[in-house]
Amino acid sequence: MYESSYSKNDYLEHYTKHNISPVRQNIFDIKSHILRRASLYRTLGLLPSSFTGKKVLEVGPGSGFNSFVNVQWNPSKYVLVEPNPTGVLHIKSLFNEQYNSKIEIVNKRIEDFFPDEQFDIVLCEGMIPGLKNKEQILTKLDSLLKDEGVLVITCADEISMFFEIIRIFFAHKLTKDLNGFDEKIQVAINAFGSHLDTLSGFNRLKEDWCADSLFGFAHFNYDFSLKKCAMFLGDKYFIYHTSPNIFTDYRWYKELPLTPKEFNQHLIDQFDMRKHNLIHYQVITPDREKERNEELLNLCKQAMLEVYNSVKYDDSDAEKKLIDIIGMMQKNLVDTDLKIINALKEIQEIIENKDYTVKAINSKYMCLISAFGRGQQYISLCKSKNI
Ligand SMILES: C[S@@+](CC[C@H](N)C(=O)[O-])C[C@H]1O[C@@H](n2cnc3c(N)ncnc32)[C@H](O)[C@@H]1O
Repeated sequence: MYESSYSKNDYLEHYTKHNISPVRQNIFDIKSHILRRASLYRTLGLLPSSFTGKKVLEVGPGSGFNSFVNVQWNPSKYVLVEPNPTGVLHIKSLFNEQYNSKIEIVNKRIEDFFPDEQFDIVLCEGMIPGLKNKEQILTKLDSLLKDEGVLVITCADEISMFFEIIRIFFAHKLTKDLNGFDEKIQVAINAFGSHLDTLSGFNRLKEDWCADSLFGFAHFNYDFSLKKCAMFLGDKYFIYHTSPNIFTDYRWYKELPLTPKEFNQHLIDQFDMRKHNLIHYQVITPDREKERNEELLNLCKQAMLEVYNSVKYDDSDAEKKLIDIIGMMQKNLVDTDLKIINALKEIQEIIENKDYTVKAINSKYMCLISAFGRGQQYISLCKSKNI
């Protein structure tokens, strides 16, 4: 009865069905992990000292591998709201006795969390893009943050996720006749492990990446671009920083607009001209017309829909439609880089020849192997105060 008031949650459905929290990282080299996280926050305008003595809320921490770093910067309070029981188990086993006393774990959805205080910093990483009720969650996060506090969230959209969505298509083709989840994951590791090996910074467990990124349905909700985020929060929040930092701002501080909406507009305009650079993490090409990028976005949306139809309904027309869409993408992206065009051609070739084998996906298509988008982008935002 209570459950029915919730919006459908594709993460929780997938994670609880298989008793997983597939976000574990290899932190054997703990020093590098801490430095990497500190570097991310620095890019977002937050130093370790920004956490010290502050009340911090982290929403959807998963297995707690990132929280583990933040806690060492001595916030006065650190609350983790994580509804997945397996995630909570992982957090408890990761935090040793020294740090267990420094955190409060709330095993609930954020929708059901009603504290009697607000926080200085609210973190919500890798969660909002995969939800259907994004606006409800953003409104909730806003209600939990103090004026002049900092909100850190992640964005991911159809362009930045394009190559990952295509991998879902191939993963489905490779595993649709298998019944066991573990068996599917093993096939996926064999097929895509070589792809992940091309990412020098990759430190997530491969089985977790496969379980999270290739199965389940959360990825089909990924329509949360930096622009959408700025449009939704933009009346109240100043965009602070992003990672990767795709913006430039030469404005003289004395001429900066003083309201968030006007301040952010300059960055939103840039996003419209630069979003093609989200498609491949190794490629940066000059600004393009807004209309051209809008067309690219629409093509990526169509591709996502066809992959969804194939995975969910086994729609046999999806293959032909994908070949056409990817052909149009090549025309749209012709002014960018051969890395992208060749990867798109390889995808067409695999589909045309129905070359759906682990061996082919693993090692035959050399441009596809290293084709990854700029996945999720981090954004920090400062909540303004009415003065
Ligand atoms: C993709 S994982 C990201 C985990 C972690 N933040 C990271 O970046 O590694 C999404 C997390 O959000 C949690 N989650 C999903 N819906 C939630 C909700 N309504 N409230 C709080 N957490 C939620 C999931 O249980 C999961 O731990």
